[in-house]
Order: sequence, then C-alpha cells, then structure tokens
Amino acid sequence: MSAQPSIDIRSPADVRGAASVPILKTELLSVRFGGLAALSQVSVEMARGEVRAIIGPNGAGKSTFFNCLTGVLRPTSGRIVFDGEEITGLRSNMISQKGIARSYQITNILPNATAFENVRIAAQSRRHAWNMVSHHDAFADINGKAEVALTAVGLLDKAHELASNLSHGQQRNLEIGIALATEPKLLCLDEPTAGMSQVETNETMELVQRIAENLSILIVEHDMAVVMGLCDRITVLHYGRVLAEGTPEEIQQNPKVLEVYLKT
Ligand SMILES: Nc1ncnc2c1ncn2[C@@H]1O[C@H](COP(=O)(O)OP(=O)(O)OP(=O)(O)O)[C@@H](O)[C@H]1O
Ligand SMILES: [Mg+2]
Repeated sequence: MSAQPSIDIRSPADVRGAASVPILKTELLSVRFGGLAALSQVSVEMARGEVRAIIGPNGAGKSTFFNCLTGVLRPTSGRIVFDGEEITGLRSNMISQKGIARSYQITNILPNATAFENVRIAAQSRRHAWNMVSHHDAFADINGKAEVALTAVGLLDKAHELASNLSHGQQRNLEIGIALATEPKLLCLDEPTAGMSQVETNETMELVQRIAENLSILIVEHDMAVVMGLCDRITVLHYGRVLAEGTPEEIQQNPKVLEVYLKT
C-alpha cells in the first residue's frame, strides 16, 4: 500500500496538548494477594513514544503490574490513566479496544492454528461489531492487517506454517505479532526474549527497536545489555515498590539498584 500524505486538521495547540498527555500514568497502584503486597503505591508516568523498561528481581511485581494495566487483575487500590482516560478495573477486552496490547511471559499462541490465523484472530478481535464496512471489505481489511503484523515480526514467509511447528524464538515473535495485530498505542512485552538463544535475542531486540518507531513500549527484560541499549527510561521495582527510575545511565550508577542487582 502506498503511503498517503496525511492532512492534520488539528490546531498547533491541540497537537501540543495531545503530545503532552502521557500515554500511561499509574497513581499509587497497589495489589494485595492476601497478606502479600505484590505492588505497593506504584506511580509511573510514561511519555508518548517512550520505550520504558521495568526491571527488578524475581517476584518484584513486574508481571503483576502488566496484569493490572491489561485488565487481567483488578488493582486493590490506585488509578490507571491511559492516553488521558481512566481505565482502572476495566475488563481486558475493553482495554484491548482502547489500545493496550501485551505479550505474555509464557507463550500464549494457538499451537494448532497457522501463524497467519493467530494474527488474523487478533486483528479481528479489535473490530467493532457496529462496523459498517461490507463483509468483503472487512475481510480484506483484517487479512491486510494480519499480513502487516506478520511482516513486522519477520514471519510472513511462515504465514501458513502451524504455530506449533515454529521454533521457540519464532513462536515468541509470533506472540508480538498477535499483540501488534490489535493495533495498540501501547505494547507491553513481558520478557519477550525468555528462553531465546543469543542470536534470537539480538534479532528480537532489533524487531522491538523497529516497532518502537511507531508506538510506546513497556518491556520487562532481565538481560541488562538489552535493556540499556533499547530503553529511554527504566523503572526498577523491588518488593512491589518503585526503588528507582531514570535513564539507563542513571540506573546503572544508582547505588540502591546496584545493591539489589548485585545481590540477586
Ligand atoms: N495470582 C497470584 N496469587 C497470589 N500471589 C501472586 C499471584 N501473582 C503473583 N503473586 C505473587 O506476587 C509477587 C509478584 O509476582 P510477579 O509475578 O508480579 O513478579 P515478577 O516481578 O513478574 O517476577 P518474575 O521475574 O519471576 O517474573 C510474587 O511474590 C508472586 O508470588
Ligand atoms: Mg514476571
């Protein structure tokens, strides 16, 4: 598809306004599991277009944070504001409609469907029931979106392969493709390179870097070299609390972070 020149009808003040609204803001977000405080008063603000890493030792609350953002878990207290709109406690399908997608720490693909079917189902899930486009156009549109998502993760040549026949690295990238097919504004990646070889890790990071040109990304990643090279800012969680936040350089030199990381 050739790129159409876009005409922006918003006033400069509107454009400045939209750019200054954070893509994501959490306010004093807390999650308790019985007596365990998995998240305690986590306040994070992320600018539009930012790539933010969430790091921290095992059990720090990273996946719990993602679960709250994506509606898998309802926070015990606190607020989540996405793109200027409160989404606290909304169900996951509503949050997906609003533009947050995620990949899971443990792969979540349909093994008996093809790579193409996996992304097509995701593309379809984002469509509104009241869409007025004819069935034929809607069908072509969804297939087109699925193709774009597969291309973005380098799997177009595997489109008709069963997902279960893909390598582990390809399956993990397919999962990113599934998330992209919902056309998110914010993509949350929970350890996308877990279990990958070094070569696969490097490829996936190049892929994430390409994707990051067009949307905001939150990423949980244990490989520090990967995190440092990829992110604009880093938030460090420790026992459910924000221990530190800053640029990769600041975090690398932060004595509290060094202590936690060198100990684990
Ligand atoms: N559904 C649940 N019920 C009870 N406890 C939970 C639940 N989910 C997570 N926890 C606990 O909450 C804490 C935070 O877990 P979480 O999975 O968010 O950590 P994490 O930072 O993602 O760790 P990892 O690096 O191992 O993935 C842990 O102590 C975990 O055991
Ligand atoms: Mg986790």
